[in-house]
Amino acid sequence: MGEVRLLVITAVLPCLMACGNDNPATEPRSMATENIAANEGGKKLFYTKCASCHMVNKDMTGPALRGVEQRWPDRDKLYAFIRNSEEIIRSDKYARELWLEWNQTLMNPHPDLTNADIDTILAYINAVTE
Ligand code: HEC
Repeated sequence: MGEVRLLVITAVLPCLMACGNDNPATEPRSMATENIAANEGGKKLFYTKCASCHMVNKDMTGPALRGVEQRWPDRDKLYAFIRNSEEIIRSDKYARELWLEWNQTLMNPHPDLTNADIDTILAYINAVTE
């Protein structure tokens, strides 16, 4: 078991740091499944705090989150938006247009989420293939 776990960690850690821009759809399925298994925390946060409004691949109350990192070149802004979207909607053109497009539906703020928490949620989103 220890060996398997080590394998998973060495496979996933460099990815968490470096492959945010990869297209997860091209990952072999087993790799994506391993990423999810190694990231229970991200999955749990997504289901408790985001899944009531978001799916990864389909629009719901909010937009599908597949590829969202590519739509936010400034990662600090993305963190800030997820913690308190209203503040970013006031100052950022993309965020404002998105909010208008979504009938001015505001996301509830998540001030308790750290950047690291958000990274695990985004890693979960990247690992979901369907
Ligand atoms: C109450 C419903 C709701 C919840 C809960 C919610 N969101 Fe949203 N989210 C929205 C809506 C609606 C939009 C689009 C309109 C806007 O920006 O206000 C959005 C937009 C976004 C965007 C920008 C999408 C894009 O295409 O650029 C991101 C990123 C995002 N949400 C992440 C999250 C994360 C992560 C969580 C959980 C921590 C979460 N949301 C929880 C409703 C929600």
